[in-house]
Amino acid sequence: MSDFVVSARKYRPQTFDTVVGQKSITATLKNAIKNDHLAQAFLFCGSRGVGKTSTARILAKTINCFNRTENIEACGECDSCQSFDTGNSLNVYELDAASNNSVEDIRNLIDQVRIAPQLGTHKVYIIDEVHMLSTSAFNAFLKTLEEPPKHAIFILATTEKHKIIPTILSRCQIFDFNRIKVKDIADHLAHIAKSEGVNAEPEALHIIAQKADGALRDSLSIFDQIVTFSGDSVTYQNVIDNLNILDYDYFFRIVEYAQKEDIPGALLLFNDIVERGFDQHNFIVGLANHYRNLLVCKDVRTAALLEVGESIQEKYVAQSKELAANLIVRALGVLSRADVEYKASKNQRLLVEMALMQLCSLVQEQEKKKD
Ligand SMILES: Nc1ncnc2c1ncn2[C@@H]1O[C@H](COP(=O)(O)OP(=O)(O)O)[C@@H](O)[C@H]1O
Ligand SMILES: [Mg+2]
Ligand SMILES: [Zn+2]
Repeated sequence: MSDFVVSARKYRPQTFDTVVGQKSITATLKNAIKNDHLAQAFLFCGSRGVGKTSTARILAKTINCFNRTENIEACGECDSCQSFDTGNSLNVYELDAASNNSVEDIRNLIDQVRIAPQLGTHKVYIIDEVHMLSTSAFNAFLKTLEEPPKHAIFILATTEKHKIIPTILSRCQIFDFNRIKVKDIADHLAHIAKSEGVNAEPEALHIIAQKADGALRDSLSIFDQIVTFSGDSVTYQNVIDNLNILDYDYFFRIVEYAQKEDIPGALLLFNDIVERGFDQHNFIVGLANHYRNLLVCKDVRTAALLEVGESIQEKYVAQSKELAANLIVRALGVLSRADVEYKASKNQRLLVEMALMQLCSLVQEQEKKKD
């Protein structure tokens, strides 16, 4: 394992088309390059690990490429591309404003900006976490941002758009990066698993994708963690063990108990969950999500909103057939109340247990109403 490179670095996208889940942004950038209409200042907004820095670097590489493809991608072979690939290009400059936020840092940058590129046409300045710049640094920067030399392009990136002052906002073309969809992350992981010679169950990758919560980088770190732990085969079982995730199966069983009005069964299963060290609040949230999934797959039009792997999908469809839609809605009401009340409750375990008892009584209530 001496040559182990973390996947998030090894698999940094090198072309616009390999950036996952940001199609409208990459298409707009390509178009602007094609029509020679590129803005000189951009603001890339979005959470961590969704491709902001990667896209900024691709932009820098592509506009400097001597031999761009028809599809507006960097050739990967010319002198400029090679200097980018080896990390030696002087045309891309990255400043992490989280740790370099003083006026001095910005002055250094401004001095740099004046110098024209030696190779290629553009110098690209990426300022990460730009909201962290001090006010005086901001002010020093403003003038350069307003009248940059022809060869300079600024890409400001931030995870906190609301902290960006209007004077900056109004001078930039703004791109909002999406969080990446579970399915897109899972597909991307499958592709990486294949190139790494790792055997991965689709269900396992789905769980990792869900856990990553929209951040592709996080999914890659989790993937690495599981591979380190379990070697060449990544199974659903070792993912849930490793990540301490509650198996879907528990939720299916709770719903079965609720359908059978089996309060003791539900309480004992919940006890089992608590004894295994799972967080009770997460259990409530997870169970609510489970009911939400059941509701969603009751109708073919919303079935696509189900973000789980294929084999589990069948289980959802099967279980949803057993439950009336209005019963699911009421179960969601019970769970959402428990979720809201959880933090304030002095006896949280009892609160969850009461919610379970209510779930187990829904069928009966429904029938009473009919009489
Ligand atoms: N949209 C994406 N497509 C492909 N890989 C991505 C994407 N977003 C993140 N990654 C992966 O995560 C790593 C970090 O992404 P990065 O572009 O630095 O994210 P950000 O700047 O938004 O925090 C990349 O090297 C890459 O492996
Ligand atoms: Mg970044
Ligand atoms: Zn090139």
